[in-house]
Amino acid sequence: MKYKSQKVAYWAFALSMLLIILQITYGFIQAFAHLGYDGLHEWIPFNTSMAVHKNLLVVWILSGFMGAAYYIIPDESDNELFMPILAYIQLGALAVVGVIAVAGFHFNWWEGRKFLEIPRELDFLVVVDVLLFLFVILMTLWKGKQRTTTAMILSVGLLAAALLYLPGMIWFDNHALDSFFRWWVVHLWVEGVWELIMGGILAYLLIKLTGVDREVIEKWLYVIVGLTFLSGILGTGHHYYYTGAPSYWLIVGGIFSALEPLAFMGMALFAINMYNKGEKRHPNKTAVKWTLGTAIVSFAGAGLLGLAHTIPQVNLYTHGTFVTAMHGHLAFWGAYGMIVFAIITYVMPNVTGRKIYNNALGNYAFWISLIGMLGMVSAFAAMGVTQVNLERRLGLDFMTVQQELHPHFWVLVITASIFTVGILLYVWNFMKYGLPTDEAIGMEDEFRTI
Ligand code: HEM
Ligand code: HEM
Ligand SMILES: [Fe+2]
Repeated sequence: MKYKSQKVAYWAFALSMLLIILQITYGFIQAFAHLGYDGLHEWIPFNTSMAVHKNLLVVWILSGFMGAAYYIIPDESDNELFMPILAYIQLGALAVVGVIAVAGFHFNWWEGRKFLEIPRELDFLVVVDVLLFLFVILMTLWKGKQRTTTAMILSVGLLAAALLYLPGMIWFDNHALDSFFRWWVVHLWVEGVWELIMGGILAYLLIKLTGVDREVIEKWLYVIVGLTFLSGILGTGHHYYYTGAPSYWLIVGGIFSALEPLAFMGMALFAINMYNKGEKRHPNKTAVKWTLGTAIVSFAGAGLLGLAHTIPQVNLYTHGTFVTAMHGHLAFWGAYGMIVFAIITYVMPNVTGRKIYNNALGNYAFWISLIGMLGMVSAFAAMGVTQVNLERRLGLDFMTVQQELHPHFWVLVITASIFTVGILLYVWNFMKYGLPTDEAIGMEDEFRTI
């Protein structure tokens, strides 16, 4: 690393590691509850485990993005982070708000709006926390010696993500209206501004890992940003089918959301091309795997599996079934889980000064988690298609159909266990790196010349 203050990234990543383990634990509670083994029901009913599973997911990914920004922005803008103490306070506060929210879910303190379950009181704390984060990042950029395209796109993505949290805080008595604006947060995050954050991190990693010229890499980034907004904004319409929103959304949502995979395809082609063009001499091969992996798996999970249910004629039958869970898992993991793991894999040797990349542990973590996740997604796909046919087409009773899905849930439990082994190996490797140290300052350049 170049600057002492970049060490704060480590703590954001450590928080991500802790929270993903908790998230997975609640995933298993849900899977067993579906199978009828719901012994914890009194303390953790399904709505609680679902809210915890999804909110922890969002928090560990946001914490990963914050860590990425705390590492990348000083490097790109060529100066220390502005008032790093604020960064430490902000991360600590994020962890505290997260704990309060998760504890609250267990006491039924929640709002019941999928993904935005945390109560309004806590929303205000989140806003203050994110403002603090943005203040540090934007001031660093402002005071920096240079403002690169990569740093700007990453920062604009983070700023826009914060702004888009606000429509979700408007209070409506009307469910259709509430749901309409909920999608401004959920959809415009994952299919809009988070893609900019992903694109920014991806560009940074490719610049570092492939050695291809910044100009070439950043030109691609513009194309990806263009494609994202062209399709993603009006693509919000794929959540407005049959919801009480005007019927023109059927056609607008159908057409524009069907174009969304282009941005993800752009990202995959971008990464593969840059890798092929590059010199392949960077020693951190595991980071290269995660970087190419995220670009390719996000295209599969978000692009292709999103396309699978995005046109209104199909969504009429698949809405809210396990087809959605199939897509949700691979999209979230491929795009945002794996990009966070990619940047962590790249940053760890740089902040700790220990070059234990390319070890067996790190490589197994990549492959085992990938195979496990592909298995989980196949299990969700099998249950989703079965559910759609039996329940929505043949009209069988909801609970009767749920019983029929049990074999697929066993496959889910087995494959999720494989995924979990991969994640635990990754976390173990993370711990093996130890704590960040000032001795690592200046070591990154050594990597570049190898
Ligand atoms: C990385 C990007 C993406 C992520 C993380 C993601 C994740 C998700 C999640 C979690 C849901 C469930 C949301 C809820 O019910 O509250 C969802 C729904 C949906 N997604 Fe995505 N998605 C992504 C990209 C896409 C793309 C590119 C498309 C289209 C090509 C798409 C199509 C859909 C559709 C149609 C639904 C609604 C499913 C339903 O009616 O139940 N998604 N997505
Ligand atoms: C490895 C252990 C995991 C297990 C056993 C698991 C299991 C589950 C189950 C059973 C559901 C509820 C499905 C339903 O009833 O509709 C669910 C929902 C969800 N999980 Fe997981 N999960 C795991 C890991 C993950 C990971 C790593 C991610 C993201 C990277 C993730 C993202 C989601 C999302 C976005 C939903 C909501 C899906 C929807 O909108 O329909 N899960 N999970
Ligand atoms: Fe969407």
